Amino acid sequence: MPSLSDATGSRVLFGGDYNPEQWPEETWLDDVRLMKDAGVTSVTVGVFSWARIEPRPGERDFGWLDRVMDLMHRHGIGVVLATPTASPPAWMGNRHPETLPRAEDGSVVWYGSRQHFCPSSPVYRSYAAAITKDLAARYGDHPALLMWHINNEYCTFCWCDETARHFRRWLRHRYTTIEALNEAWGTAFWSQRYDAWEEVIPPRKAQYLRNPACVLDFRRFTSDALLECCTAERDIVVASARRTPVTTNFMPFWIGQDAWTWAEEEDVVSVDVYPDPTDPLAGQYGAMIQDMTRSQARGPWMVMEQAAGAVNFRPVNVPKPRGLGRLWSLQAVARGADAVCHFQWRQSRQGAEKFHSAMVSHAGEHGRTYQEIKRIGADLARLGERVAGAPVPAEVAILHDWNSWWADEQEGRPSAEVHYPTVVRAWHRALWEAGLTTDFAHPAHDLGRYSLVVVPRLYLLGDAAVDNLVAYVRGGGTLVCGFQSGAADEDDRIRPGGMDERLRDLFGIRLVHEWWPLPEGEELVCDGDRSFRGLLWAEELETSTAETVATYRSGEVEGLPALLRNGRAWYFSTLPDPAALRALLTEVAHEAGVRPVLEGRPAGLEAVRRGDLLFLLNHAPGPLTVTVPGRHRELLTDSPVDGVVHLERHGVAVLA
Ligand code: GAL
Ligand code: ZN
Repeated sequence: MPSLSDATGSRVLFGGDYNPEQWPEETWLDDVRLMKDAGVTSVTVGVFSWARIEPRPGERDFGWLDRVMDLMHRHGIGVVLATPTASPPAWMGNRHPETLPRAEDGSVVWYGSRQHFCPSSPVYRSYAAAITKDLAARYGDHPALLMWHINNEYCTFCWCDETARHFRRWLRHRYTTIEALNEAWGTAFWSQRYDAWEEVIPPRKAQYLRNPACVLDFRRFTSDALLECCTAERDIVVASARRTPVTTNFMPFWIGQDAWTWAEEEDVVSVDVYPDPTDPLAGQYGAMIQDMTRSQARGPWMVMEQAAGAVNFRPVNVPKPRGLGRLWSLQAVARGADAVCHFQWRQSRQGAEKFHSAMVSHAGEHGRTYQEIKRIGADLARLGERVAGAPVPAEVAILHDWNSWWADEQEGRPSAEVHYPTVVRAWHRALWEAGLTTDFAHPAHDLGRYSLVVVPRLYLLGDAAVDNLVAYVRGGGTLVCGFQSGAADEDDRIRPGGMDERLRDLFGIRLVHEWWPLPEGEELVCDGDRSFRGLLWAEELETSTAETVATYRSGEVEGLPALLRNGRAWYFSTLPDPAALRALLTEVAHEAGVRPVLEGRPAGLEAVRRGDLLFLLNHAPGPLTVTVPGRHRELLTDSPVDGVVHLERHGVAVLA
């Protein structure tokens, strides 16, 4: 199986999405000159080029793409070639309206933007397959080809009749009989019983709350339906002349795609990541996405897209201040990226993203952005040999599962204040601030190599996952589990006792009498070794063998246990405030034998080990001085370091 290293060699790839079809060909030569000058080694071409390649049904115009591929090859720049199937031409929607998605209320999602295709449409799929086949035949052996990029950020949902038929096929495969579906969905409730498969529809707009198990299955189905589109194109390109690594770019921590499953189907895992420069914790957000992507890849991975400056999809879009793009690029490398690419190479003058930054901005080659891009290119060229392929060691894992997120993030639940990604982020932040490098893992994966496993929140835990957690602790592991985890089974059926019985035994809990979500803005006073605030949630718990680590001191749950431990299994029935969560996880990690990458770090300093290198990344608002015991060589400046490193604002040092 090919992997990212087949495309990188011993380099860190550097570049971005390149859309030459938006520019006259004279500009292309200028592009190549600037690319060479900036150290660009990889461009992603073709992402939304369908109407250019297939202007009318069945016609092909490859001339321009031939010239682009050849031009890149002549200049030693590799091409990540995308299938253009994320943006069907207008003729398709016009001639075949059934290829257009339908929203929950049955309305048509029109062409005129992008990603307007129904994943279940056989017509869409056959046009997509045909153009992919022709691309593969024409460029499969092209010397510039580095990697195949399938579609772009698969993210459409559709509720149309074709989708309904497809959903039924998927459900038949899962349940075999309609009785089994009725049982799994609990259709005795509200007279929802289905007598025949034909009656089953996707969860469309309805009078009141929809069946949660149906919504959950529809999420599972949609992720699978999109994956079918992706693997169909993948199978075509892998059959071409030369076996070249294949990827599709994920949106970061996105609800629509079970990326654990998807990653299994790719040679290279890639992600698009756009932290908000105005977020004081953007560095942590980036680290979380990077940790998640590395874990899906089980090794080196690729930043397919990041912004060189501002984006255009927030209410206010600020550019990256000087040095921030470099900091985040090197952070990605520290956390395992072997490719750092951008959306996009040259800033568009027209179209919906003309205000979105690019490596060459409207200010051109003398603009600040391009100058900074050159610096990043030079840094990556310097580091390439030393980092490419090197592992990022982690002794801590955060468990994450889309199935639980899908079951969790629905209407009609105890608290709309609880957002799954926010809770996961709070726990990742605590570990990040504690200086502990974390992987992410699926709850049913083998966890044996981790000294500490944390579950921020897995409301739904299937039997295999429950058994896995119990076995992990029995085998010597330390587990810390957040509130309401293990409340539901695989079908989103609430477990008797408020938590799976095996887990209650593990944590030393007799019964969860009540979940006690906190009204917006309410916090509870808790104390144990120290006092802290409990956020979002509380529980009325009765322990069996657990020891109470902290107690609620206010509210209706006053006097009841807030945090418990039962040997190496810990349960937090509330979300401790950020400082408390950091302190608690630091202590638990210490007890489990896990130490920070670097002791005595100043606030805002991120330290990450990759291979035999130590990355020091300054996320603080100003300069930092860092003490690092011993003598080292700093690779970006190629200078010796003796005990102390000074980092400018957004500064980075890489110590060997
Ligand atoms: C991504 C997309 C790119 C571009 C970018 C802007 O979602 O793949 O094509 O739209 O966002 O940030
Ligand atoms: Zn559809």
